[in-house]
Amino acid sequence: MGEKLLIAGNWKMHKTPQQTVEFFQEFNPKVEGIDEVEILICPPFIDIPAAVEATQGTNIKIGAQNCFYEKEGAFTGEISPIMLRAAGCQYVILGHSERRHIFGEKDEVINKKVISALEEGLRVILCVGETLQERESGLTFTVVESQLKLGLSGVEDKLDQIDIAYEPVWAIGTGVAAKPEDAQEVHAFIYSVLNKLNPEKASKVRVLYGGSVKPNNAEQLLSQPDIKGVLVGGASLKPETFAEIVKIGQRLSNK
Ligand code: PGA
Repeated sequence: MGEKLLIAGNWKMHKTPQQTVEFFQEFNPKVEGIDEVEILICPPFIDIPAAVEATQGTNIKIGAQNCFYEKEGAFTGEISPIMLRAAGCQYVILGHSERRHIFGEKDEVINKKVISALEEGLRVILCVGETLQERESGLTFTVVESQLKLGLSGVEDKLDQIDIAYEPVWAIGTGVAAKPEDAQEVHAFIYSVLNKLNPEKASKVRVLYGGSVKPNNAEQLLSQPDIKGVLVGGASLKPETFAEIVKIGQRLSNK
């Protein structure tokens, strides 16, 4: 773990169970035999059983887009890491900017989720990234460093079970990806922060880029030395498009 590029799809609030089955009917043959990159799809909770079933015996992994930090109890509307594991999830995305900005999740809550998910054996993709206003105020590194330190507080010794997604908020769903060299600059900074948190395990973390990744920019992004994968929203919804990104990753693997 750690050396393969991670090509991850975040479906957000898209697709029914039936549409999930249809996606994998088309997608699976397109990525059959690809094992130089890790392929992950994170569908809505309700689609997870269908996705797990549709990917049995393939090299495609399934994850969730969020979870709560308690194991069970009176938490109406929430899903626990235990439930995700039992359903066949191997990953969970935490701290996505939509969770932070639409649902008001703070670093402290995200950190509790990270701790709990790791305890239950899920791999975590922790998302960090600055808003446009923060970037324009020169706060990118300050914001990213603080999100990393607070999000990873108490789990610095488990960095080998964690991946980070750098997703500048201004690039998500806008069609305007970060310039590869600008993303690289932040990725290098993220590795420097991780290195301070745990010098032995920092290099095992894959720092993914997310925000308007498409087949036509994936190659340039993934060619940067510190971009070890991508977290793809809109372009992961179509089997053809996501498979193209997976194949770009495969071509560039072993870089
Ligand atoms: P996008 O979303 O690819 O649609 O910009 C990425 C994300 O939010 O993970």
